[in-house]
Amino acid sequence: MSNLRHLMSPMDFTVEELEQMFDVAADIEKNMDAYAHKCDGKIMATCFYEPSTRTRLSFETAMLRLGGKVIGFADATSSSAAKGESVSDTIRVISCFADICAMRHPKEGAPMVAATKSEIPVINAGDGGHQHPTQTLTDLLTIRSLHGKLGDFTIGLCGDLKFGRTVHSLINALVRYENIKFIFISPPELKVPDYITEMLAARGIEYKEVIKLEDVMPELDLLYMTRVQKERFFNEEDYIRLKNFYVLDKAKMEKAKETMHILHPLPRVNEISVEVDADPRASYFKQVQYGLYVRMALILTLLNMTDAHVNEGLLKKY
Ligand code: CP
Repeated sequence: MSNLRHLMSPMDFTVEELEQMFDVAADIEKNMDAYAHKCDGKIMATCFYEPSTRTRLSFETAMLRLGGKVIGFADATSSSAAKGESVSDTIRVISCFADICAMRHPKEGAPMVAATKSEIPVINAGDGGHQHPTQTLTDLLTIRSLHGKLGDFTIGLCGDLKFGRTVHSLINALVRYENIKFIFISPPELKVPDYITEMLAARGIEYKEVIKLEDVMPELDLLYMTRVQKERFFNEEDYIRLKNFYVLDKAKMEKAKETMHILHPLPRVNEISVEVDADPRASYFKQVQYGLYVRMALILTLLNMTDAHVNEGLLKKY
């Protein structure tokens, strides 16, 4: 296949390329029916070695909405990984069957290893505590759609900032945009890694680290809540001590701007009280919807099918 391109990190695409992809996603949101046959005859493989609800089903829905078909496994134990097959061999096999593959793996770098052996585009659907690029694309599209632009805001990232791969990917992606201030809200044990704060300092990007969410609520344009990542803890006692450190509830929301948006990559455990769901600022289920649009746009981009768009404005851009 010519022009073979993978997605391992959100940084694999330039800001301009992402902007084009988000324009496609925005067009899909408005004109879903126009995309119903773009991937007729194409097959997506979803190879998930780690649990997922949103990411796997979102990819599968995206391909089905584009007219394609899906194959795959949702659990490593039902694949030949259980018999010892390597990721490299698996992707060679998948390359014989499918046109594009989304892979989630508990080991950091596994989708990258697969990409080096693959004859089809490979999408990193989450690798251990490392990257979750399509969640980042989802987050960026959500911010662009709800805030109106990717820039000029203060974002609070709250919860498990140490193990949360979505947080690390999002920060790395956001530093490419203008006038964004970061507020990191976490217990000391789950603070954002030093390499991130060092990177922000080196770039002259404003940030602060706090423990209490209430103290910074009035400053925020966006609040990105995260769950404490049970599966990445080495010690059950530490997890139990920290799992309910933050609970966003109605009382805390009273301190927030009327225009603030609450995002969460989901799944939620206890960190957002269900009473907040009815608040118009609760945007985490809309975020899931944006995840579908951006995955549809990504599939079209990696399959080099964006030139088939019907929208005249989009055609001019390509
Ligand atoms: N946000 C996210 O990655 O959710 P899943 O683990 O359910 O895919």
